[in-house]
Amino acid sequence: MSFDALADLVRGATFDDFLLRPQYSVIARRDPSVIDLSCRFSTHITLKRPLVSANMDTVTRAPMAIVQAEEGGLGIIDRGFRNGDIEPQVREVEKVKRMQHIIIRDPYAVTRGTSLAEAVALMKRTRAGTLVVLDEMRRLKGLLTERDVRFVNTREGTVSSRMTPVESLVTGQGELSLKAAEEMMLQRKVKKLPLVDANGTLIGLITAKDIHRQERLPFATRDSHGRLMVGAAIGATGDFIERAVELVKAHVDVIVIDIAHGHSVVMGKAIDTFKKSFPTIELVAGNVATAEGVKFLAERGVNAVKVGIGPGGGCTTRLTTSFGVPQLQALYESRQGAGDTVPLIADGGIKRHGAILEALLFGGDTVMLGSMFAGTEETPGDTVQKTVVLADQQRSVKVPFKVLRGMASIQAIRDRLDLEDDGEVDLESIGAEGTEVSVPARGSVRPIIQDILKHLCSSISYGGARSLAELRQMFRADPLKYLVKLSASSKRESYER
Ligand code: XMP
Repeated sequence: MSFDALADLVRGATFDDFLLRPQYSVIARRDPSVIDLSCRFSTHITLKRPLVSANMDTVTRAPMAIVQAEEGGLGIIDRGFRNGDIEPQVREVEKVKRMQHIIIRDPYAVTRGTSLAEAVALMKRTRAGTLVVLDEMRRLKGLLTERDVRFVNTREGTVSSRMTPVESLVTGQGELSLKAAEEMMLQRKVKKLPLVDANGTLIGLITAKDIHRQERLPFATRDSHGRLMVGAAIGATGDFIERAVELVKAHVDVIVIDIAHGHSVVMGKAIDTFKKSFPTIELVAGNVATAEGVKFLAERGVNAVKVGIGPGGGCTTRLTTSFGVPQLQALYESRQGAGDTVPLIADGGIKRHGAILEALLFGGDTVMLGSMFAGTEETPGDTVQKTVVLADQQRSVKVPFKVLRGMASIQAIRDRLDLEDDGEVDLESIGAEGTEVSVPARGSVRPIIQDILKHLCSSISYGGARSLAELRQMFRADPLKYLVKLSASSKRESYER
């Protein structure tokens, strides 16, 4: 039976309805640094790892997006900022784009007359450890580093009193290759190398930290300038074009028009307007869960489609509206609708690592994860200590928690709309389609990503393939060789632990 004939088998099914039959393994090591996991994210963006962090205001801001891109995936900064409040979202994008340049083209700058207090505030706000000191013609006058201001009274004095003046700096003349810069820095024992042209005008800054990071992260998702890639979500009405203008100025790599029901007249208009303003900007749209929905978006020229209505951890759409499609069926039908025209992002409902492979075999080119990254250090929001009663030991302990909330939950909507002063009645009648839950706070998301990737490599090994692309090809060529539809008792045996 071919992939095209699976419609009946997947109707009403989701990830836990199947297992995959193990095949003869042909790889020696299940090692993510060797096995090719690359995939299409969108028409013009390829990722080395198929993971995308969800555009939710309790999941992806700059710290999450940075780790995702460093590990070969992508983070999408949420649009959970108040209408008209564009600057905070832009700042998150800027933080990611500035994170890893080989050459920082526009480093944070001050003048010699800037007060030390101002310079320190800029360092704190931007987390930049080095400021370049420029004159009004952008000629380099010096460098001011964290070390220069560490033990001084920053209420007094100006930058010129603490900076290292240009005469004492090692500078590179003109454009240097990474290798040449590295050699120069090693030889002259410096950690920062400003580049200037013949007139002494600053053309960039290279730091040893960036060079080392670049070498340590061979799978990172980078743009053509070596900067980490990042996406940002916008809505389909209100300030969405204004927001996009500013995000594009900040060099965002992809815009995601994200609304609950993407197969809609509102979305159609939004895409048309967007395309007129930004014909060349990579555009993702969603969410949809049907072949017709995907075709609708693909015909309007989007570069990828987000698939998933209601499977997500924080979603109540299915409870409140009775609409939605089981996620595995949605992915399959969306893939059938899309053919090979447009990459699909399998968004939501992934609760165990193994389900990622199913999402990628049945239709997704990448998966978008929210709950799976929730509670990690890189998620926004405070950690709160909650008392948890250990029933069996008859005592209570304090456990750290963070919040995960659906973007259509009352709490998230209230924050976006600035409704704090409004009465309960208004909030109750908002038509929320999401919930807020507390999740245990844990460490960095990085080992979680690495664990997911190892498991994905194990899946490829069990599937008898050498790469993700090969496994997908083998599965699509002969799906029944793999698929085992589960009975209620085999589901219990497989997934209840
Ligand atoms: P997981 O299962 O990974 O899903 O946590 C993340 C995805 O859930 C979607 N999302 C929502 N869906 N109401 C919804 O119906 C909401 O309030 C909501 N918030 C997030 C979203 O697609 C996300 O990527």
